[in-house]
Amino acid sequence: MLLIAVGGCDSAPKGNPEGAPPRRQPVNPDDPDACAECHAQIVAEWKESIHARAHHERDPIYGGVRSLVSKRLGSEAAKQCATCHNPRDPQNPDSPAGALGVSCATCHMLDEVHVDRSGADALAFASVVRMRAGHDMAEGSSPAHATGKAPTFITDRKTVCLACHDAASNPGGVSTCATGAEFEQRGATDKGCIDCHMPRIAGPGGEVGSRSEHARHVFLGPHRAWTHDDVAFVADAIDLQGSFTDDGLQVSLRNETGHAFPTGFPGRLAMLQVVAKDASGKVVWRNITDDPMKDDPDAVFNKIFVDDAGKPTMPVFGVSVSRDNRLSPAETRTLSFEVPESAAEAQVSLVMRLVPPSAHQPLGIAGTLDAEPRVMKTLKVER
Ligand code: HEC
Ligand code: HEC
Ligand code: HEC
Ligand code: HEC
Ligand code: HEC
Repeated sequence: MLLIAVGGCDSAPKGNPEGAPPRRQPVNPDDPDACAECHAQIVAEWKESIHARAHHERDPIYGGVRSLVSKRLGSEAAKQCATCHNPRDPQNPDSPAGALGVSCATCHMLDEVHVDRSGADALAFASVVRMRAGHDMAEGSSPAHATGKAPTFITDRKTVCLACHDAASNPGGVSTCATGAEFEQRGATDKGCIDCHMPRIAGPGGEVGSRSEHARHVFLGPHRAWTHDDVAFVADAIDLQGSFTDDGLQVSLRNETGHAFPTGFPGRLAMLQVVAKDASGKVVWRNITDDPMKDDPDAVFNKIFVDDAGKPTMPVFGVSVSRDNRLSPAETRTLSFEVPESAAEAQVSLVMRLVPPSAHQPLGIAGTLDAEPRVMKTLKVER
């Protein structure tokens, strides 16, 4: 364990300024429960997040892919995952600090973020227990850790996130995730990753918060729809409009996120399901009855990776991308559906899956909650 007296290093206060809280042993940076004494609300939020479950035993989807990688490519390949999934101890992902996943110290106990590297290699951890976030904090502001000026890798609202979310490739070198480049492609915006994913909400972050609001630490994203039945964040991601035309039904989707939709983990997929009914309420048409990729591939927003033989495979084993039908950053896409003239109304649903059904069995998640689709948003269109 780290035992560094806050009084002994360069960041220590000179003397004990009037009104400064009494000094004590620095907090263990890899024990979120110890932060809770003073930052309870934030700790409770972080525990709900997928960052707190980034270890392979706490996330069945990651655990499933990691063990397939280990089986097919060897344990060395699987070890590479820990640099982003267990950044506080990538050599020992099962140690107490590693098992925490993307924990408080990962983002807060940093001297610097090296933008040309990724994961733990990008994160220059401070050698003293010094915690910094979005505010300039005078030395001596906290009795449990050193403080300091707000670093630019947080005030620029993105760099600390891009340490892991910028880009990733599979073990064969094929690009799997490019959220950083997508964000750049989106162009001028007043919102960074932190503004959308960690909105400031009412109430202090805990006992010690000197402000009446704090940055919500649940790290809003699709997983919340499954873990907390909360679809609000993804629902706002897409502006849905629909109308009947002479030829059928037109639906437009505008991507309101800061990147492609979906982004990041390449197994994610979203789709539009359309169900049309006649005046008596009888279903007269649907675009998808069985396999969405056979029935209406244009309405499926996903990426498909293929193997040497051109057959679809999991992104980790793909040698190339055969299709990328996701919505580009800021794109508005219009889809036409040939609903019959008898249709009086249509129900349009934006549905998301964490991973496609073909991967459920291999990942060992068949029949679990993570295997279920989730309706994120619906729109009723009347003729
Ligand atoms: C004994 C109380 C105490 C404990 C325990 C504690 N902190 Fe703090 N922390 C403070 C105080 C007081 C401040 C200054 C807060 C303020 O003025 O709003 C602070 C500030 C911070 C800040 C800077 C916030 C900003 O707005 O820029 C971060 C980040 C932080 N703490 C993280 C942690 C983490 C992570 C842990 C656990 C490893 C922890 N703290 C444990 C008392 C504590
Ligand atoms: C040390 C690496 C690292 C850093 C730094 C990091 N993340 Fe993550 N993030 C991850 C990993 C790994 C996952 C996936 C964990 C899993 O699913 O097992 C993840 C998942 C997410 C998700 C997905 C949530 C969902 O519901 O699917 C969001 C959103 C996210 N991070 C936002 C952020 C933001 C915003 C920042 C910057 C404030 C950030 N991350 C910084 C590694 C990191
Ligand atoms: C304008 C708001 C906005 C900005 C800016 C933004 N995002 Fe997002 N992000 C969203 C929304 C809404 C979603 C949910 C829809 C989706 O999954 O694409 C999302 C989804 C995600 C996910 C989840 C992907 C998945 O399926 O697990 C990650 C990771 C993520 N964003 C990271 C980032 C990073 C990193 C940045 C900055 C480079 C960023 N976002 C900027 C709004 C934003
Ligand atoms: C993935 C990165 C990440 C992780 C993990 C993380 N934080 Fe933060 N935290 C941030 C960012 C970024 C901000 C600044 C938000 C802002 O300026 O609006 C922040 C802000 C804070 C603040 C200041 C409160 C505020 O909103 O002004 C405290 C205190 C804090 N975090 C404590 C913690 C604790 C305790 C944990 C672990 C339970 C934790 N953080 C985990 C990124 C992270
Ligand atoms: C460069 C950093 C980085 C490395 C290295 C990395 N990951 Fe990730 N991983 C992430 C981030 C960031 C996310 C969240 C992306 C998102 O949700 O968009 C993630 C998410 C995932 C997910 C989705 C989990 C879920 O619940 O949806 C799987 C599966 C995954 N990673 C597998 C792996 C495997 C297996 C390895 C090693 C072969 C690996 N990753 C290496 C950064 C990384």
